[in-house]
Amino acid sequence: MPRSEPAARTATYDAPPNIALVKYWGVRDPRLGLPYNSSVSVTLDRMRSRTTVTFDSELERDEVELNGGPAAGGPREAVVRFLDRVRTMSGTTDAARVVSENNFPTASGLASSASGFAALAAASSTAAGLRLSPRALSQLARFGSGSASRSVFGGFVEWRAGRRTDGADCYARPIYGEEHWPALRDVVLLVRGAPVKEVRSADAMQATVRTSSEYRRRLAELPRRLARIERAIGARDAATLFPLVMEECDSFREVCETTRPTLDYLTATSRAILAEVREVNREAGRPVAGYTHDAGAHVHVFTLARDAPRLRRRLGALSGVESTLLLHPGPGLRRVDRRRASPGRRR
Ligand code: DP6
Repeated sequence: MPRSEPAARTATYDAPPNIALVKYWGVRDPRLGLPYNSSVSVTLDRMRSRTTVTFDSELERDEVELNGGPAAGGPREAVVRFLDRVRTMSGTTDAARVVSENNFPTASGLASSASGFAALAAASSTAAGLRLSPRALSQLARFGSGSASRSVFGGFVEWRAGRRTDGADCYARPIYGEEHWPALRDVVLLVRGAPVKEVRSADAMQATVRTSSEYRRRLAELPRRLARIERAIGARDAATLFPLVMEECDSFREVCETTRPTLDYLTATSRAILAEVREVNREAGRPVAGYTHDAGAHVHVFTLARDAPRLRRRLGALSGVESTLLLHPGPGLRRVDRRRASPGRRR
């Protein structure tokens, strides 16, 4: 490679999706993307978005390729807007080529904005020569998608809402690493005919803030629930965690259902899965599992390794369940194209 070539004009990163145990739903400052409440998630293994960004002075305009085809409309605009922010931060004026691919089907409705924007934040800022700390990366990623701020880190992650108006105390941070709870499993039930989201979550949640009669009450309940959930994770206390995760999911669903016009993300199959999890727990006389879902029809069911195979078979047999995945807590962002470090040096 010629020595004169400018350094770090290109970078590739992998980023994982995450599933929220305490949901982000409501923005107090849309310009800075500051949420009303702190949220907590588990970063998931096996799935990832891989994104390469190359700033190139020869390009006339940004080129964006998502999952093998040129991006258009809203998705393209969101990426270009994000690149504009990185150009402003770094002082570069070059256009960029962005190639992003998920190793899971985007149409499956599994969260791709979190992994996609976390990977884009890391790849674009690195390619532009910015050296951002993981915390600063989480703050940048949230401008693409709020939940992307949590996908920077592996394991169990808290996105602190903060109080400041300038957003300096609003960032994600890991609370427990991916090895913290080896027995925890996420059984994902992919529901047949899951509707494609019509309204972006970022817009839907603001309708909730404006119109749901239950939103204030939810906000008031959240600090206590979040603290209890974090304590249960810390103690690897499934019997406490699973009911709290369901309580939180039900609270999220309640504010969606009381939004005008109402937000209903579930199908009959999703509802049957929630009912079956309640029944499993009732039959066992203990919390074997805890369900949650995002703004979509697929359902995540947390359980422990010893109960996972049976639970997966039982829930997977419900009519309308297309397929199931068995996931673990996984690692966060990873640079893919890093040149080999000299022996003994690792980052
Ligand atoms: C229900 O920050 O992912 O998943 O990019 O518009 O989809 P969009 O918004 P995003 O909203 C996340 C909402 C949620 C809860 C959560 O992940 O905390």
